Amino acid sequence: MAIRIIGTGSALPKKQVTNKELESRVDTSDEWIRERTGIGSRHISTGETLVSLTAQACGRALENAGRQASEVELLLVATCSPERGIPCAACQVQSALGADRAVAFDLNAACAGFLFALNTACAYVEAGIYRNALVAGGEVLSKIVDWTDRGTCILFGDGAGACLVEKCDRGGLLGFVQHSDGSRGDVLKCDSRPLKNPFVSLEMEAPYVQMDGREVFAFAVRQVPESITEVLHKTGIAVEEVDLFVLHQANRRIIEGIAKRLGADISRFPVNLDRVGNMSSAAIPVLLDELNRQGKLQAGMKLVLSGFGAGLTYGSCVMEWQ
Ligand code: UT7
Repeated sequence: MAIRIIGTGSALPKKQVTNKELESRVDTSDEWIRERTGIGSRHISTGETLVSLTAQACGRALENAGRQASEVELLLVATCSPERGIPCAACQVQSALGADRAVAFDLNAACAGFLFALNTACAYVEAGIYRNALVAGGEVLSKIVDWTDRGTCILFGDGAGACLVEKCDRGGLLGFVQHSDGSRGDVLKCDSRPLKNPFVSLEMEAPYVQMDGREVFAFAVRQVPESITEVLHKTGIAVEEVDLFVLHQANRRIIEGIAKRLGADISRFPVNLDRVGNMSSAAIPVLLDELNRQGKLQAGMKLVLSGFGAGLTYGSCVMEWQ
């Protein structure tokens, strides 16, 4: 028994911000951003919230699957930019959707978050605890990005994506691998509130994303092919049998590096980061929804999904689309 995706949905803020527009904010250029990242524009919230975007994406996934919110048994939201510390985003989304029967909670594994949430849903369903799950990845990163730091602000975008999954007897999610390396947590981080109470008051760094881009780049190009090879080995599937590699959309050069190491043609690596930038945990489900709605996912196709990011966290799964 495994899970299969029976519906996908996504939502992006209305405002699109081009590289040209960023030129007036930081010392950068459209040419530099395109050449080093492949990004041309991204969607930035001017009022849309993590909950409104994620609820919209979830609603579209339900509609795509022909299911009602009341049927959902598990609702997982992967995010590293929640609106509130408490309650969790998933409970807020549950309320917005009217998914009253669902058990809802968040999961934060940064850019690997959606993949880890999907695998978590799979484990619950395989254990027979729930029959279906709504799995979402949503981010409003624009509020935690330092808009004076050209090394990071040009990369990120806001958005949300979701999948409705249910148990199946064959095909679907064939296997997954997940890894975490907390010892390298400092290469990509964003501080939360400092310790402040009547007994102590600590200083903190600005609560914005801080990143050693080169380190993250090297980590991704080295470790993602390893995790993909690991999951392919585990499931007995060859690189040549994979129809599409749906990777976290961080940087076109990272994706090219991964393709090269795997010896797989770049045409099998769909990309949307040119339009949406890096949306962390929303990247994979948004891309999956675009491919689904464009009719590019056919029954029987083998997909590899792979996420990687802060933590460091990374993981991959293989699925047969149904
Ligand atoms: O989901 C995971 C999230 N993070 C990532 O995926 C990030 C992975 N890393 C990357 O994508 C790349 O490392 C970046 C795109 C962030 C940077 O590209 P790079 O080729 O590694 O550039 P660099 O950091 O080595 O910087 C090269 C130069 C530097 O100038 P100097 O010291 O050579 O004079 C930077 O100051 O480029 C400069 N630079 C910029 N120039 C124009 C850095 N950012 C910019 C910018 N515009 N936006």
